[in-house]
Amino acid sequence: MELRELKKAFREAYQKETEHVYFSPGRVNLIGEHTDYNGGYVFPCALSFGTYLLIAKNDGQVLRFRSLNMPEVTEVSLDRLTTPLAKNHWVNYPLGCIAQFVKRGYSLTQGYDILIWGNVPAGAGLSSSAALEVVTAYAFNDLMQTGLDRTELAKIGQASEHEFAGVNCGIMDQFASAQGKKDHAIFLNCDTLQFTLVPVKLDGIKVVISNTHSPHKLDSGAYNDRVAQCHLALEQLRSVRPNLKNLAELTQAEFDEIQSAITDEVAHRRARHVVGEVQRTKDAVEALQKGDIVTFGQLMNQSHVSLRDDYEVTGLHLDTLAQEAWKIDGVLGSRMTGGGFGGCTVSLVRDEAIEQFKEQVSKAYKEKTGITPDFYVAQISDGAQKIE
Ligand code: GLA
Repeated sequence: MELRELKKAFREAYQKETEHVYFSPGRVNLIGEHTDYNGGYVFPCALSFGTYLLIAKNDGQVLRFRSLNMPEVTEVSLDRLTTPLAKNHWVNYPLGCIAQFVKRGYSLTQGYDILIWGNVPAGAGLSSSAALEVVTAYAFNDLMQTGLDRTELAKIGQASEHEFAGVNCGIMDQFASAQGKKDHAIFLNCDTLQFTLVPVKLDGIKVVISNTHSPHKLDSGAYNDRVAQCHLALEQLRSVRPNLKNLAELTQAEFDEIQSAITDEVAHRRARHVVGEVQRTKDAVEALQKGDIVTFGQLMNQSHVSLRDDYEVTGLHLDTLAQEAWKIDGVLGSRMTGGGFGGCTVSLVRDEAIEQFKEQVSKAYKEKTGITPDFYVAQISDGAQKIE
């Protein structure tokens, strides 16, 4: 939808003109999955699709929220900003961010009317919720002149997810949405939050996102279970390494030496994935910096296998997309991206193989699952911004 149309929708919803427009993107993670809440490395990039927020002051002591994707107006009084709405209400995502400003001692005394529109494919695991959180945090940081930096805004988004949506997520999605840069991926240490922007210049190769359109999503229960299993592994490892801060700190050799301290079989496999995935992420970034895309692709494939076998967050839909992609000559690598189960895969595909890739993967996937997948050539774009 064009900006002009969004403004028209704002006018129709609130009988007034838009005062400001903000945008924040979704993300795709190239490698480094389920490492963020273990203090590990991730390597995501921001996409060209995301969430728009249009806003204007009102004269009431209220915030009014309306989404074009879900068109009813929700009104929240300014003295109730820190109270979540009913479970699963979409307004909890933006409200949870505004609550964080209040909790940090900034008081909001001005009411606003807000219109939200997003073009991140729904349920695709490309972080539409992080885009909504970060666009809200970015907008209110600007409007309230709180002067927080982008990393703080990402933390606000993550806290909203924890406190208002009940998902104990890591920082990756919000960080990518806040800090993304055109044609770069973010090599982020999720323990220290230090990061490097690495150019993704791939001559004759595209980043292709394939959408399973699968009804199975990694729900908050299955996600929080993985977080808990990693904590259990960490606790058990502390019986032999009391100062261990997080799983990602261990090299493969260190893990091999003390792994028998993890007595829970499931927790053991989860930890093995995390340790291997952190090493793969570091190796992949090094390979990319050397221009060695072949190695990068192989590491992506290994990442998928580990997420399938040890972390158990793939399933028929994601496995079929990845494994069918591996059969094609011009595919350098393919893996699930994001939380898992449903959602998307990310693949590196040579330009001349893209049509064959779409055809062949689509046909095999449809035969196995009855669903037609979708493909998007990713445009790696900038993070949160004020449009006007
Ligand atoms: C979801 C979470 C992220 C991250 C990924 C898995 O997208 O929101 O914090 O844990 O899953 O890497």
